[in-house]
Amino acid sequence: MKALILSGGRGTRLRPITHTSAKQLVPVANKPILYYAIESVKNAGIDEVGIIVGDTHQEIRAACGNGEQFGCRITYLQQDAPLGLAHAVKIAEDYMAGDSFVMYLGDNLVPDGITELVKDFQAGSYNAQILLAHVPKPNEFGVAELDERTGRVVRLEEKPAKPKSDLALVGVYMFDKSIFTAVNAIKPSARGELEITDAIQYLIDNNYRVQSHIIRGWWKDTGKLEDMLEANRIVLDSLSREVLGDVDETSQIHGKVRIGPGARIVNSVVRGPAVIGENCVIRNAYVGPFTSISCGCIVENSEVEHSIVLEGSSIQDIGGRIEDSLIGKNVLVGRSANRPRAFRLMLGDNSQVGLI
Ligand code: DAU
Repeated sequence: MKALILSGGRGTRLRPITHTSAKQLVPVANKPILYYAIESVKNAGIDEVGIIVGDTHQEIRAACGNGEQFGCRITYLQQDAPLGLAHAVKIAEDYMAGDSFVMYLGDNLVPDGITELVKDFQAGSYNAQILLAHVPKPNEFGVAELDERTGRVVRLEEKPAKPKSDLALVGVYMFDKSIFTAVNAIKPSARGELEITDAIQYLIDNNYRVQSHIIRGWWKDTGKLEDMLEANRIVLDSLSREVLGDVDETSQIHGKVRIGPGARIVNSVVRGPAVIGENCVIRNAYVGPFTSISCGCIVENSEVEHSIVLEGSSIQDIGGRIEDSLIGKNVLVGRSANRPRAFRLMLGDNSQVGLI
């Protein structure tokens, strides 16, 4: 069995971060989301991983390499434009060479892993296996309608205005080679994409065997800021304490906190769960629960809580507390001494600033 991890697409809901970076590389607890997907398939015993890449291919290739760091072999499959999930399957046909595969959306996080689900699929004689989860806003997902009597999936609809159930399609699917018949038979949807929901519907309508599992554990599509922060919260909560950096005697470290090598905590309070990357400097500061600070950041005379800060950024001399925020790479957030007193901003397109 192989894996197909989708890491193309545009990431419009995470702009401006995704103007310059792939959304699948935004870190959760200081590790790119995409790494969780690769580790998940590797833990399920899969060594051959195809990654679909688009415009951000160079960055994805640089981050994942040939797969050695994960103990698997990665092959990159270039998608010229994000024409849909089923289109991504279509271009992977030669790579799969008739094998069954797990398709994993590179911005999804399934912390409990997929090992048992992969085993189930391998043991059964299904052509496809989909995962479903109860969600509060089904209109934001592919939605499944089940037959009340048999519990079988009868209909799948992509982001319906009036969902027939609250069962969303999770971004992990298992297929045998019959999915290629389906993706080659369907037509683009109204939004111009070849939809994987339509391809699976094709399998259902043509009497292929489609198995569904309702997962009870936690799952997240991290396409939006609040989902990203929630994913960060859940993953941080599962980590154990490890303090490798330097903590001076006037600082306090409470609870599950990971501090990377070379980091310096000076006259500060860090309250976990939180992670502070290599070579950060936290001085006269407070880092509160559910915060991930990537390597090489400075937090000085400031407070940060429930936020993700990407590498090389500085937060200095802020009067209040930064909360619920995603701050990109090499960002400077600081106080200006220049007169007249004013807010001075240089923000990328689609940035959001909440001042008090
Ligand atoms: O997260 C689960 C949902 O994922 C499902 O419930 C939906 O049925 C499914 O269509 C999908 O919806 P999204 O709107 O979240 O898909 P998104 O466009 O965000 O793409 C998911 C991943 O696939 C993301 O990592 C980008 C990548 N992708 C996307 C497209 C459209 C590609 O690599 N190529 C593409 O052409």
